[in-house]
Amino acid sequence: MSAPHLSRRTALVGGLGLLAGPACGQSAPLLQVIAGRKGILFGAAIEPQSVEGDADFAALIARQCAILTPENAMKWDALRPTEAAFDFDGADRVAAIARTNSVPLHGHGLLWHEAMPDWLAPALRKGRGEGLLRDHIDTVVRRYSGVVRSWDVVNEVVERNDGRPDGLRISPWLKALGPDYIDIAFAAAQTADPGALLALSDYGLEYDDEPWMVEKRGTMLALLRDLLRRNIPVQALALQGHLIGDRPPAFGSGLKDFLDAVRGLGLKILITELDVSDQNIQGSAQGRDQIVADIYARFLEAVLTSGPVEMVTTWGLSDRYTSKSTFFPRSDGDGVRPLPFDFDLRPKAAAYALARAFGSS
Ligand code: XIL
Repeated sequence: MSAPHLSRRTALVGGLGLLAGPACGQSAPLLQVIAGRKGILFGAAIEPQSVEGDADFAALIARQCAILTPENAMKWDALRPTEAAFDFDGADRVAAIARTNSVPLHGHGLLWHEAMPDWLAPALRKGRGEGLLRDHIDTVVRRYSGVVRSWDVVNEVVERNDGRPDGLRISPWLKALGPDYIDIAFAAAQTADPGALLALSDYGLEYDDEPWMVEKRGTMLALLRDLLRRNIPVQALALQGHLIGDRPPAFGSGLKDFLDAVRGLGLKILITELDVSDQNIQGSAQGRDQIVADIYARFLEAVLTSGPVEMVTTWGLSDRYTSKSTFFPRSDGDGVRPLPFDFDLRPKAAAYALARAFGSS
C-alpha cells in the first residue's frame, strides 16, 4: 500500500491516528491509516465533479482514502455515449484525482445490467454483444492499467427471482450471450491487465435474517465454485454492503460462515459500497447517527473477525455527496446521513465506529 497522503499542515496525534485538522476544527480519525495498519485499504466512491469543485471535500478525500472508486464515471453509459466512440472524460478525471493523491482505483464496473446506454441493448440483440464486450473491456482495462488495482468485472449477475436454476439474472447480457458472458468478461479483463485483481460484485449477501439473502449466498457459492472449476479467473468477491438503518444488524455466524466458504475457495473479500441508509429511522440527527454507527460497527466486526479483508470502501464519504439523497430520501425533509462524515465534513459516530472496528480487528 502506498504511504498515506498527508499535507505538511497535518499532524498525526496519538496511537489512534487522529488528525488535528485545520479544516474542521476537531480531530477526525484517519481511517486509511488505521485500516492500513491491518492491511486493509480504506477508501470511498467519488464523482469527479464533487472533488474538483470542492477543495474542502478534496482535502477530506486525500486525507482519508487509500483507494478511490468511480461512483458512475466508468459505467457503460458514461464511457459509451455512442457505439462508435468512447468518452473517457469522467473516468480520466477520476484517474487524475487518484494520481494526485498517489492512490489506486477500484474500477467499477465492466458489466452491469443498469447504466446501459440506450443503443446497447438493441446492439446486443443484433448479435454484436461478444465483440462489444471484448472490445469494451480490452480498451477500458488497458487504458487504466497501473491506476486500477482491482475491477468489479461483473456486477449483480445473480437474481434468484428470475427463476433460472443457476440463479443468474436474465439480463440483456445473458439474453444475448447466454451464461458465457461472465467467462468472456473475466477472460478479457485478465488478458488486458494480468496484474489487476478481478472481482465479482453483488448486493443482498449481508443479512442473516433475510431468507432471500441466505439463499442468495448459496447461489453465489455455487456460481463461484462453477467459475473456478472451469478456470475462469475470478479472484475476489465484492460485497456491496448497502445496509439499512431500520432493520436489526443481523450479521452473525451465517455471514461469517459464508465469508469463510468464499475464502475457502481461494477468493479474496472486498467490501465495496458500504453505507447505512437512515431513510426510515425516526428521531434526532444525533440519535440516528448512533444507530447508523452501530450498524457499521456490527457489520465490520463480523466481516473483519471472520478473516482477512482486502479493502473497505464506503459509497461516498460525506453526507454532502451521497446518491442516497436522491434514491432514498427522508419523508420528513431532513438530509440523509448514511456516511461517516456529515454534510459539513465533520466526523460522525460512524467514522469513530469504523476507526474502532479497524483498530480492533
Ligand atoms: C448508483 C450511484 O450511486 C448513483 O449515482 C447512480 O445514479 C446509480 O448507481 N449498486 C451499484 C452501484 O453497483 O453502481 C450503484 O450506484 C448503487 C447500487
